[in-house]
Amino acid sequence: MPDYNAIHRFLAARGHETTAIHCREVAEQARALALHFGVDADRAYEAGLLHDISAVIPNDQRLNRALAWGVPILPEERVAPMILHQKLSAVMARRQFGVTDASVLSAIGCHTTLKPDASPLDKVVFVADKIAWDQPGTPPWRDDLARALDVSLDAAALTYLDYLWERREQLLVVHPWFVAARAQLSKRLSPMVSSRQKLSAFFRESPLAQEASALDLER
Ligand SMILES: [Fe+2]
Ligand SMILES: [Fe+2]
Repeated sequence: MPDYNAIHRFLAARGHETTAIHCREVAEQARALALHFGVDADRAYEAGLLHDISAVIPNDQRLNRALAWGVPILPEERVAPMILHQKLSAVMARRQFGVTDASVLSAIGCHTTLKPDASPLDKVVFVADKIAWDQPGTPPWRDDLARALDVSLDAAALTYLDYLWERREQLLVVHPWFVAARAQLSKRLSPMVSSRQKLSAFFRESPLAQEASALDLER
């Protein structure tokens, strides 16, 4: 398994030390989430370490590199080759760092968009990447994501996908993996949400609740 020093050396030598630091943060976050949710922690750490390794490929070369490496390319990825970096990182992890574990390669390969039928490991790395944000300031989804993590890994993944969905008009492209992953998770989690809504409606409308709110008004 590649260690942080090897990743740091590789990225720093190519002028991407900031990415190396981000990769370490995502790896540590992924390991913590994996331990919490009963996912393989070593695999989570490894996928986190390598997830952005393709930062060394400039954006204007990503499409050609994907073509040369036989990576399947979606129309949205032709418009926004930046998104190809998740697939390119998976190829580099295999070719240059000797990763053969399909579950690790999968988690690297969908860390930006997630995908339908994502594994728990995919979701751990996806969520870790959103927590260990690589932009300045606090990510706007931080508090919602933290609350969702108290519910489940699926809820956390959906929180970020929902955030993106609400802003889809502003996105350069709407990646189909993200749309499909969101639809699947929404469907899976909606019975929980609707039963929560029913429960709170029940309490709002029940005589006991009305009595309680009347008492509140009297105070
Ligand atoms: Fe990334
Ligand atoms: Fe990242």
